[in-house]
This record gives sequence, structure tokens and C-alpha cells, in this order.
Amino acid sequence: MRLILLGAPGSGKGSVADLVTRAYGLPRVSTGDLLRHAVRERTPLGIRAEEAMRAGRLVPDDLVIALVGERLAAADARRGYVLDGFPRTIAQAESLARLDPGRPEIVADIVAGEDVIVRRLESRRVCPRCDAVYNVVSRPPRRAGFCDRDGEALVQRDDDRPEVVLNRLRVYHRETEPLLGYYGARGALLRIDGAGTVEASFAELRPAVEAALASGAKGAAA
Ligand code: AP5
Ligand code: MG
Repeated sequence: MRLILLGAPGSGKGSVADLVTRAYGLPRVSTGDLLRHAVRERTPLGIRAEEAMRAGRLVPDDLVIALVGERLAAADARRGYVLDGFPRTIAQAESLARLDPGRPEIVADIVAGEDVIVRRLESRRVCPRCDAVYNVVSRPPRRAGFCDRDGEALVQRDDDRPEVVLNRLRVYHRETEPLLGYYGARGALLRIDGAGTVEASFAELRPAVEAALASGAKGAAA
């Protein structure tokens, strides 16, 4: 089974994916996290991706597709996985279908208004060491300014500056929103309300995930 989380920047993809991972043990594959890791490590991929990320543009499809292909080949993805931030273009969606064909799929679009999104991204803080995500308003760390897990000082993501957020939203509308039509036409699209709590979004998603996991288990037993 694979769960694809669509949704604008700040709609809550990463936060919902974390709950799915915790509840069902499916690995979360976040292209944003993989790319940020590559940038931090100064890998050739990271060096090529950095400028686009800093400006809030998409990283070229071929780079991201190769990264995801490598990640999905890992043993922990065999039972299923949660895709957070991939695919983001029609070309990426088509590559995914070729990369891992025939896998039952749930596609969920997490929907939140732009005013909510802008406020959330302004108040997001992240741990530069372990990528844990906080929010000074809705999910503060136990000790203000420091990661609960490893005590590292929290930072703001480079691309959470207001002018970059606006560009990310423009890029989302232009390049990623067409995926709603793409998956809608295949009858696989769920609409999840992302304006309430993360737990409420997760609760909306649970029945579909549980049904897909149960049918996968039945298929494996047959
Ligand atoms: P990526 O890291 O994927 O960023 P994004 O899509 O812009 O999404 P965000 O991580 O900003 O938002 P989210 O929906 O995960 O929200 P979160 O749960 O953190 O990508 C970054 C960049 O990498 C891209 O711009 C691009 O350059 C590149 N890239 C990545 N994937 C790519 C691809 N496939 N192709 C090409 N380029 C790619 O929540 C946000 C904040 O709100 C947090 O503080 C959280 O605590 C809080 N929050 C979340 N939900 C709620 C809620 N319900 N109530 C209250 N607070 C909430
Ligand atoms: Mg995210």
C-alpha cells in the first residue's frame, strides 16, 4: 500500500505523515527532508538542488525521481510507505506509477486556506539536526527554542521567509495542483480537511488506510 499526501506547503503533510508512521509503522518518505539532508551533506545532488529550494522552486524532476527510486528500493518500503511531498508534477506521478506498479494506492489532498498556511509557516520551527517539526503556536517544544529529542537549538527553515512562502504557493498552484485532476480521473482522490487539528486530519484518513492495509494483508495471505 502507498499513501500519497498532496496538499499545499503548510497544509500539514509532514505532520499527518508522522502520525500515520507512528500508528502503522509505514516509513515516511519526504522528498523535502531527503533533499534538505543532501544539501546539508553537500552531496552533488544537494549542491544542484540548493538554489531552487532556497527560492521556493521545484527541484528538477530527474533528480527527485532518482532520489525516490533509491529510497523505495530500501527493505523498509516493501510493505508500503507514505509519500510526503512527492509526486509534485505529472511527470513525477507517471514515473512513480512505472517505478512501483500495481501497488494499491490512496491519494489524499490535505486542504487548508492560504491565510492559515501563511500563519503556520511563519510560526514553524525545525530541528536542524533531526528534522523534528514544531510550531511556536500549535506545537511548541517543551523548552522554548530547543528540540525535545536532542536539545539542538531550533531554527526557521530558509524557505519559510514570507516572500519565499508566496512563491512556493504560486509554484504549488501551477505545477502540483494539476495532480488533483490526474488522480481524480483515476478515482483515487480523498479530500482531507487540513484546517482543524492534525489529529482531526489523521482521523479522517484512518478508515481508508486501514481498509487498504487489511486488503493488502488478505492478498498476501491468499
Ligand atoms: P517540502 O519540505 O516538501 O515543503 P512543502 O511541500 O512546501 O511543505 P511543508 O513541509 O512546508 O509543509 P507540510 O505540508 O509538510 O506542513 P507541516 O506538517 O510541516 O519541500 C521543500 C522544497 O523541496 C520544495 O519547495 C522544493 O524546492 C523541494 N522539493 C520537495 N519535494 C519535491 C518534489 N517532489 N519535486 C521537486 N522539488 C521538491 O506543517 C507546517 C507547520 O504547521 C508546522 O509548524 C506544523 O507543526 C504546523 N501544523 C501542521 N498542521 C497543523 C494543524 N492542523 N494545526 C495547527 N498547526 C499545524
Ligand atoms: Mg513538510
